[in-house]
Amino acid sequence: MKKRILIIGACGQIGTELTAKLREKYSSHKVIASDIREGEPELMESGPFEILDATNYSAIEDIVIRHEITDVYLMAAMLSATAEKFPMKAWSLNMDSLFNVLNLAKEGKISKIFWPSSIAVFGPTTPKTNTPQRTIMEPSTVYGISKQTGERWCEYYHKKYGVDVRSVRYPGLISYKTLPGGGTTDYAVDIYHKALKHGKYICFLNAETTLPMMFMDDAINATIGIMEAPENSIKIRSSYNLAAISFDPEEITQSIQKHLPNFSIAYEPDFRQEIADSWPQSIDDSEARTDWGWKHEFSLEDMTQIMLENLKANY
Ligand code: SER
Repeated sequence: MKKRILIIGACGQIGTELTAKLREKYSSHKVIASDIREGEPELMESGPFEILDATNYSAIEDIVIRHEITDVYLMAAMLSATAEKFPMKAWSLNMDSLFNVLNLAKEGKISKIFWPSSIAVFGPTTPKTNTPQRTIMEPSTVYGISKQTGERWCEYYHKKYGVDVRSVRYPGLISYKTLPGGGTTDYAVDIYHKALKHGKYICFLNAETTLPMMFMDDAINATIGIMEAPENSIKIRSSYNLAAISFDPEEITQSIQKHLPNFSIAYEPDFRQEIADSWPQSIDDSEARTDWGWKHEFSLEDMTQIMLENLKANY
């Protein structure tokens, strides 16, 4: 069967870069972008686009049939901070969209799914450092509960119905092309913008909040890497731990100060501090590295250099 890809949530932080990368890899007309609203001109002009509500099963089904879709990347979700404000809306967006694509695969209408999980599946009782693949998982956020439940359903659909669904637990993702929205790790993107714009940043997490993070290029490589891996190399059908770097606001500040010596940071923790405190500081992702050859490339210093270099022109 010829591969034809649908990205749901293509205008978001990850979707934008994933769409560009997949269009570069396969021909553009075989990669259909979709979202609830239109995105940046670059994305809109680079290939086919459909307005799509991910919670609407028949709307997805219609696009899948019309475009003869084989692979779906489901990137639409409500992130941790926003989900705390709209719990029911988050639950229905995050779960309905997943069931929609799982059921399309169960019915044989698509053959492969990528669905992202998150470090948010872990909770305050999880071991904080080098968090194992299999461990205590008692997430205390709406977002984390939806991702953990999603993982259970992915594994269930694989075992019961043979659905080829693949997943990674993304850490906080940092990129310069599209802003993140509504996450707890978003400070690590915003800090670069504010460093260039104002020379100072007021951080909503405290100085010692170490969290697992990753530069977007690594995240995109992991995403396409797990989707292209041979089916029998994917041994975990809930979701793989995935890691690159870990740092706290103080350490990212120091890395920025190497380029902008006058940059300063102040701390005003808000409700997101509690969310961050419930998550791990570092992740053991050895199973992803062994099973399908995952390898990260970008260090904190690499990332800071690339972020400042690319954002400079905006300010
Ligand atoms: N980056 C996400 C968030 O902060 C975690 O997956 O919500």
